[in-house]
Amino acid sequence: MPLMAAYPSLFQPFPINGVTLPNRIVLPAMVTRLSGEDGVINSDIMDRYVRFAKGEPGLIVVEAMAVHTAKSGPLLRISTDEFKPGLTELAKRVHAAGPAKVVPQIIHFLKIARSGWRQMVGDLTKEDIREIVVAYGAAARRARECGYDGVELHMAHAYTLSSFLSAKNLRRDEYGGSLANRMRLAGEVITEVRRTVGRDFLLGVRFDGEECIKGGYSVPDSQAIALRMAQLTVDYVSISAGGKFEDAIHKPGAPLYPYTGYSGDRCMPGADYPDGLNVYIAAGIREWLRQHGFQTPVVATGKISNPAFAERILNEGKADLIGMARPLLADPDWPKKVREGRESAVIRCVYGNICKNLDENFKKVVCVLWPQGKLQAPESSDLEPPHWAAGATLTAQYKDGRVFLKWPAATDNEAVQGYSIYRRAKDEPERHIGSNKAHGYTDPDVSPGTVYRYRVQPYDLGGNRGEFTNEAAVEVPG
Ligand SMILES: Cc1cc2nc3c(=O)[nH]c(=O)nc-3n(C[C@H](O)[C@H](O)[C@H](O)COP(=O)(O)O)c2cc1C
Ligand code: SF4
Repeated sequence: MPLMAAYPSLFQPFPINGVTLPNRIVLPAMVTRLSGEDGVINSDIMDRYVRFAKGEPGLIVVEAMAVHTAKSGPLLRISTDEFKPGLTELAKRVHAAGPAKVVPQIIHFLKIARSGWRQMVGDLTKEDIREIVVAYGAAARRARECGYDGVELHMAHAYTLSSFLSAKNLRRDEYGGSLANRMRLAGEVITEVRRTVGRDFLLGVRFDGEECIKGGYSVPDSQAIALRMAQLTVDYVSISAGGKFEDAIHKPGAPLYPYTGYSGDRCMPGADYPDGLNVYIAAGIREWLRQHGFQTPVVATGKISNPAFAERILNEGKADLIGMARPLLADPDWPKKVREGRESAVIRCVYGNICKNLDENFKKVVCVLWPQGKLQAPESSDLEPPHWAAGATLTAQYKDGRVFLKWPAATDNEAVQGYSIYRRAKDEPERHIGSNKAHGYTDPDVSPGTVYRYRVQPYDLGGNRGEFTNEAAVEVPG
């Protein structure tokens, strides 16, 4: 596998605890809602992860799967041995489809009701807590028995272990209140998992580096949490942010979805947020670990989809591994294309969060940029780009605070998949502002007194890009 000269750090193989990731790109866990309520691996799930594997990331983290039996809509399970055949087959097929290593993310969650009621950490007895520890240990053992390269413990967002780590955990016993007490359950789970899987099995933890809620913890606490995890032999920490119940907006009749408030935005930032908005958190944690003599790798995630940006994060020592969830959903071939020098063929996530809305509504998670009705990202080895059979004339018109773009449909030997829209203004470099499957686009983010210049480029199923349209200029009145 040749190194991609332009991004040598990103495509450098990365050894951790006996396994070598072929590059430093991590697919973080992303619930697909493709399973039934039975939690069994089915063919759609299998196809989803095989598709990711073909794109050649370094590490695939399979979506959160429950260590216990509580009900929760469509969600994978690893809670008893009966799930092992499907999980084993999944690991086998992912390994066969590409060089990526694969680990499941294992989760415990507290009960929630459609009324808005939710079980709190304070409601759990010591016996309940012990059961959680034992369930994590057993689930991690299953992960090893099923042929995974490791296991990732979900300690982020709104789920049980994160809620214990939270500054909002006000339990009065040894599991709450002080930081040391809030870390106790996480420590017990890590210790139990290590005991059951052995020292020679990749053990990662995903947790919130910042809760992003009023009164929640931020980097000073998460530095201490990461250090404790490193001391307990965790092999990597994957840093997420927010995704909490505390600021979630309750839709009457629907279970509370922890990604509807500001903390949800910070977890799955939409188009209005800057790129890499949570990188400073990973950087702060990594620096702390290094200052304390630990080389534990740190994964940074959150709107990192530009390879030059990812390379810079690595080179500046802000993270060791780059998490890309939605960018790899939009185009699972991102790693392969960039490594092969075909960066322009990447189909770029537009961060409109349709996938997140599907997850929220328990609908099968797909990307809006895929062909309509498809459950998996398209595959194509064709290299012929689309062309403008009906001309390439772009028109731009300003009306009522927006710019409206129109262009004719392009044609392709396979299928036109969409159009990328680029914009530049005076003193600004040209940038990609969105993609659309239809041949029109409305730009709502324009400022008075500015001249904007637009170009549009069609792309096909494989991401091959055709010629640009003309550049259409429009002046927004002052
Ligand atoms: C549909 C969807 C499902 C997700 N499911 C999980 C999950 O199961 N576990 C988890 O830790 N994070 C989950 N996340 C969060 C992502 O792993 C990731 O942290 C977030 O999308 C920000 O990264 P990105 O900007 O690269 O997409 C999910 C995100 C999305 C969009
Ligand atoms: S649905 Fe939107 S946010 Fe989600 S992966 Fe696709 S382009 Fe990105």
